[in-house]
Amino acid sequence: MQLTKAQRERVESLLSQMTLEEKIGQMNLESPSIVGGFDVSFEELIEMVNDGRIPQEEFVKIMSTATRDFHEDDIRAGRVGAMMGDDPVKANELQKIAVEESRLGIPLMMGFDVIHGFRTVYPIAIAEAGSFEPDLFRRTASMAAKESRAHGVCWNFAPMVDVARDARWGRVSEGPGEDPYLASCFARAKIDGLQGDTSSKENYVAACLKHYVAYGACESGRDYNTTSMANSLLYNAYLPPFKAAVEEGAATVMASFNDLNGVPCTLNRFTLREILKQCWRFPGFVVSDANAIRECVVHGIAGDEPTAGVMAAQAGMDMDMGTEIYLNNLKQAVEDGRLDGAYIDEAVRRILSVKMWLGLFDNPYVPQTQIAANEVIPQSNLALALEAAEKSIVLLKNDDRVLPLDRSKKISLVGTLANKPEEVIGAWAMSWKPSDCVTILQGLKNSGAAVEYFPCGGPDAPVNEEEIAAAAAYGDVIVAVVGETVSMTGEASSKADISMPGEQREMLKKLLATGKPVVALLMNGRPMALDWEAEHLGTMVECWHLGIQMGNAVARVLLGDAAPQGRLASTFPRMTGQCPLYYNHPNTGRPGSKSKFTSRYLDAGFTELFPFGYGLSYTQFRYDGLCVADKGDYLAVSVGLTNTGERAGTETVQLYMQDVVGSIVRPVKELKGFEKVTLKAGESREVSLRLNKADMGFYNDRGEYLLEDGTFRIYAGGNSRDCLMQEITVNF
Ligand code: GLC
Repeated sequence: MQLTKAQRERVESLLSQMTLEEKIGQMNLESPSIVGGFDVSFEELIEMVNDGRIPQEEFVKIMSTATRDFHEDDIRAGRVGAMMGDDPVKANELQKIAVEESRLGIPLMMGFDVIHGFRTVYPIAIAEAGSFEPDLFRRTASMAAKESRAHGVCWNFAPMVDVARDARWGRVSEGPGEDPYLASCFARAKIDGLQGDTSSKENYVAACLKHYVAYGACESGRDYNTTSMANSLLYNAYLPPFKAAVEEGAATVMASFNDLNGVPCTLNRFTLREILKQCWRFPGFVVSDANAIRECVVHGIAGDEPTAGVMAAQAGMDMDMGTEIYLNNLKQAVEDGRLDGAYIDEAVRRILSVKMWLGLFDNPYVPQTQIAANEVIPQSNLALALEAAEKSIVLLKNDDRVLPLDRSKKISLVGTLANKPEEVIGAWAMSWKPSDCVTILQGLKNSGAAVEYFPCGGPDAPVNEEEIAAAAAYGDVIVAVVGETVSMTGEASSKADISMPGEQREMLKKLLATGKPVVALLMNGRPMALDWEAEHLGTMVECWHLGIQMGNAVARVLLGDAAPQGRLASTFPRMTGQCPLYYNHPNTGRPGSKSKFTSRYLDAGFTELFPFGYGLSYTQFRYDGLCVADKGDYLAVSVGLTNTGERAGTETVQLYMQDVVGSIVRPVKELKGFEKVTLKAGESREVSLRLNKADMGFYNDRGEYLLEDGTFRIYAGGNSRDCLMQEITVNF
């Protein structure tokens, strides 16, 4: 995000004209409130339904009379800086009030959760990250930016770049997995996609990096729970994707709900002011998460809301999402001398700078022609959604090479997840339409395959024996879609048991008992504990929640029109109790082994089920001839790759390193590069990767980046477990 000199001057000139109230108004983010039909707050009403004080039917009746308050009077009075919403007509109406009826005519920022697509929903991030394709990350983000702007949204609350190592956490689905390097590549590419094309205001939006920071380290994988860690871990594992995205020019950052080492991130001076604004020189603004300033009282860091507001403003929190605590308390705090007005000016300067960069002062409206054009999804969007879905599919097992399916085979498709449009879109898809969604059933029908559908059961549906018998009678092969409903993933969806939900394991047992070949397709938003499945199923495909083109992508991969090339961006455990489980862990003094007195479980051993970076193809690859050469400021790594199978395939060659001895213990492996290579059957190629020595260091507890001479192990392979290795001594 770069402003011209003229833009900076416009910001200063505007700031100098603003009253204190108008400045504080810019720091207020509102969302349409549901009002009327009841005499308590909407939040209270929800509580009353949840705890049974009012029956569901009464709630429905009350809601039928409710309306939505878009805060028009507050906007007119200059008390709103940004609004949430995804409707272009309403956006134009509200914008008109702000621009033509408020004293200074400062336009609103319309923000919305566009996490993996606006209307053209593409794969959830944990899936897309597994494509290991930064150019794809960028292109899907660019598509989302254009669709957002076309609907009046100029601020996407994305990308979510929380590194997550605990699959019990529901928000694993929203982020790029467990590895800081892959997450940083994802973050950088998403910022470029969302913000990079400023040739026309229709092509870019302000991104919002979230959730800053270490939200994914919530204790026990339980959402909103406390986080605590050494600063060295914060710097080495959780900050990197944010740092990368700020370097790429991210315009805004959203602070996370969690407390970090005893201080809620919403008012954490160390992370917000010292790291983000001073050390990284972040030029944009920070917004709280929903209601988070109020929750600082609940955390117990502030005795009351006015104090929470003052502490947050002092810590570097520029915009208040959804509490109006800034609106109702900061003026008095400044007048009382409890808050230096300079904090207000800093926040408003940042907010106005982003609005100026977005071009909102020149033309904040969505043209009517665009609103009309929104009715039809461009073919290019559908093609990109299909490409992203295909590239995110991970082949986990194909023991008897049942896949790809022969088109002459009759398919019995089973599982309730296979025929529900709402289950393909994944968590945090907000502006989608069921009519746009291609289910797996529809995708197989579109492919012309001979397919019949038999529900048979699902995550929230009992096993149906008759349907299983009918499925066995019809199909030459049974394709069983199992996993999680979308509602089991995303925010506030942590699980204490991440094995197959409901009676799906029973269903699979009965399907296997029919004697027909069974292909298991997983639809889920997190790594799952699949020890039984992996032991008894010969064919397993991780299909995640792939968005509106899911069915077509799955059908193309099942039938061999596209080859599987996705890899896992998160480790799959054998059992839930192993969580958190991740590949880039320290060695410990007693690394897990078959010996008893080592780091292992009596009932789950010491290994993962499927490692980070893992995925199969419809062909096979061989690695040989790893060579590592010191070239001064970088290491030149080369490895031979051969396609030893009968089909073309795409392999993701991964480069890892281990700093064998460090002044603090270092992970047994760290991803430092990757390259996708497509080879024809029998083809060989030498793949070259570069590891800059400057990237071989780590941070200590004081945030100092250290490059320490010594022995390094360099690994190359198709996943984080199965690699060739060469040791080298490096002097920096
Ligand atoms: C939610 C989420 C955040 C989202 C925000 C606005 O609670 O934590 O990711 O952007 O509220 O919807």
